[in-house]
Amino acid sequence: MDINIKIDDLVYPYFVTHGDKVSQEIDGFPGIYRFSSDRLIKDIGEIKSLGINKILIFGIPLKKDAQGSLAYSKNNLISQTVKKIKQEFKDLTVITDVCLCAYTNHGHCGLLENNSRRIDVKVTLSKLSDIAVKHAEAGADWVAPSAMAKKQVFYIRHALDEAGLNKTKILGYSAKFSSYFYGPFRNAANSFPRFGDRSAYQLDPNNTKEALDEIRQDIREKADAVMVKPALAYLDVVKEAKEKFNFPLFVYNVSGEYAMVKYAARLGTWDEKQIVGEIITSLKRAGADFIITYHAKTIAEWISKERQKL
Ligand code: PBG
Repeated sequence: MDINIKIDDLVYPYFVTHGDKVSQEIDGFPGIYRFSSDRLIKDIGEIKSLGINKILIFGIPLKKDAQGSLAYSKNNLISQTVKKIKQEFKDLTVITDVCLCAYTNHGHCGLLENNSRRIDVKVTLSKLSDIAVKHAEAGADWVAPSAMAKKQVFYIRHALDEAGLNKTKILGYSAKFSSYFYGPFRNAANSFPRFGDRSAYQLDPNNTKEALDEIRQDIREKADAVMVKPALAYLDVVKEAKEKFNFPLFVYNVSGEYAMVKYAARLGTWDEKQIVGEIITSLKRAGADFIITYHAKTIAEWISKERQKL
């Protein structure tokens, strides 16, 4: 099978951290790095020359606290990084993840009510809106709230519009399941919840109806696109979402789904290129418009090699 993938459909995720000349491969996440912004810019140069034109960025702060304050500080890591990226690359679509879990010392996606283990929804929504506005002011084309706080899209849209940022788009992580496939990502961001799990706000893998309701709700709240995540283990939801809403649909081929393929390929018992091609085909067949995948750079390399052969 030739790889029959449109590079325009792919989004490549990045992890950015503080410092200079930092390029650390992440444990349990082969081929994926924490980059400081200088190294990130260098890598983006490579993927751009391979034809990738969409990225999603996550910040990994050096310090975490109960309020997740470095997520929305004036000169936060993501805002700084987006500014640098936009100076270098004018025609690159930059999507930023809007969440608190990498910034809070308890590892949850929202802020907690005083001395409790409950998410304070009101405060969380206001902080998420603040983060989104700061990212957008720095030049992010899309903000992607992933905290699964109820009505987050509504609040963020309102805050963006108030700030005159009506061109910034919102990608809702609408149907984000409570999944163990996020393992390598949590390792990357050191964001394992310190108590409990995320099942109070992420979705139950058994409940398709709830997932479709969340998607419908994000569309009502004026998301510009919606998402199903993880992708592979939830292809039925992808298909139903596309059929039901016929709305721009992203799927997130998450860290655990990626790592499984990479480790199996290392054993030398299967052909990584064919397997990845088949995975991408399955996601498109199910109805995905855009695919967020850590395989994107390798795919682009394969495609460019094939072109050179012609
Ligand atoms: C943050 C967030 C997560 C992922 C993307 N945004 C992880 C989580 O809920 O712990 C996972 C992505 C991946 O596994 O590749 N809320």
